[in-house]
Amino acid sequence: MHVLITAGPTREPLDPVRYLTNRSSGKMGYAMAHAFIHAGHSVLLISGPTTLDVPDHVDFIPIETAAEMHAAVANSIGGVDIAVFAAAVADYTPAHVAAHKIKKSGATLTLELVRTPDILGAARLEFGFAGTLVGFAAETENLEANARDKLTRKGCNLIIANDVSKPAFGFDSDRNEVLLVYPDHHEALPANSKHALAHHLVTAIVELHKGHQSSVISKDQELALIHLPQ
Ligand code: CTP
Repeated sequence: MHVLITAGPTREPLDPVRYLTNRSSGKMGYAMAHAFIHAGHSVLLISGPTTLDVPDHVDFIPIETAAEMHAAVANSIGGVDIAVFAAAVADYTPAHVAAHKIKKSGATLTLELVRTPDILGAARLEFGFAGTLVGFAAETENLEANARDKLTRKGCNLIIANDVSKPAFGFDSDRNEVLLVYPDHHEALPANSKHALAHHLVTAIVELHKGHQSSVISKDQELALIHLPQ
């Protein structure tokens, strides 16, 4: 199977020496890239800057901004069977990038930010992706309901949700505890190392792709996609 994975944070430049970013380490996405290769699949990893080594045999496209990740996914998603969006994409980017270093002036500084493209949300409608679509959701409350809302809005077959209010799991941790949210049911995976968890996730995603679980977009999802603003 051909698998595309997005991973890591994005960096949104403010001026030649500063950027906005987040705490994503990329560990979960890279562990999944490794696990898909181990299971005999081919992997294209599109990643923001991390300190991790790219796993052997993985095709790699490094990006910095959300706009660059959007373009790289748009160019590469044709021919892909399974797409896993594990990146922590910045939701906003500076409206203007200063050509020169911003000098300090007043006591406060206000930044104007504009929305970045929703790359996962573009997969079905903009990129015409018809394969198995997997997203991530980092939540601090109502884990299943919020993840299910994302599943419907973004036309996913599976959302891997984690509760980032639990300090032991999530962004920079080596461990994670996730809830798999499918269109018609959900399943909790117990806490584990990201490495071990990645192998379970790859097995679940490949099963889903083969149609062993409901991979059909539900009527609700179809309606939500039809009514999405263009
Ligand atoms: N995602 C993306 N492009 C973006 C933002 C998010 O591809 N510009 C993907 C992420 O890789 C992840 C999923 O969408 O798979 C997360 O969805 P999102 O709605 O952004 O969730 P949160 O980051 O939790 O944000 P919020 O709950 O505030 O909507």
